Amino acid sequence: MIVENVDRIAKITRELGVYQWRAIYVYAALVAAAFCFLAVRILRDRSRPVAVGYDGDIQGRGRYGLSILEISRLSDIPHAHVCSGRGRCGTCRVRVDAGADRLSAPEGLERGTLARVGAAAGERLACQALVLGDGVQVTRLLPAYADATAAQAPQEWRADRAVPAAESTT
Ligand code: FES
Repeated sequence: MIVENVDRIAKITRELGVYQWRAIYVYAALVAAAFCFLAVRILRDRSRPVAVGYDGDIQGRGRYGLSILEISRLSDIPHAHVCSGRGRCGTCRVRVDAGADRLSAPEGLERGTLARVGAAAGERLACQALVLGDGVQVTRLLPAYADATAAQAPQEWRADRAVPAAESTT
């Protein structure tokens, strides 16, 4: 009787071992499939072309996930960027006229810079806002020749005044 029970337990243990390995294989296959699906999706999204409209009549083209500033530069559209896209100067800022929901959400660095330069609601830093779909329309708020003074005195470089106040009065 004891020998039979030991044999039975050994047999059940072997069978459970087989099922355990099968479950591990299935689990590993599902995880690998999920990774492949995610990788294909990311690669497909990253190579997807997107267009951005500037100032009502200029069209820039780039790829999903690039910033507005990167698309400007790829498309040879002059765009101020005193800090070279590090999100500090505020000179690249744009007013988003359409498609705000197809841009990445502003993060802490961008929010801080926008607050410092006194940006109005609906303004974004072109170097920080990533384009996640078509239909984005923006207006560049500073001329491409804006220099470091634009970052130092942002209140004098507003959308409705493309040159610093000091220059406009001379
Ligand atoms: S280039 Fe300076 S904040 Fe965007």
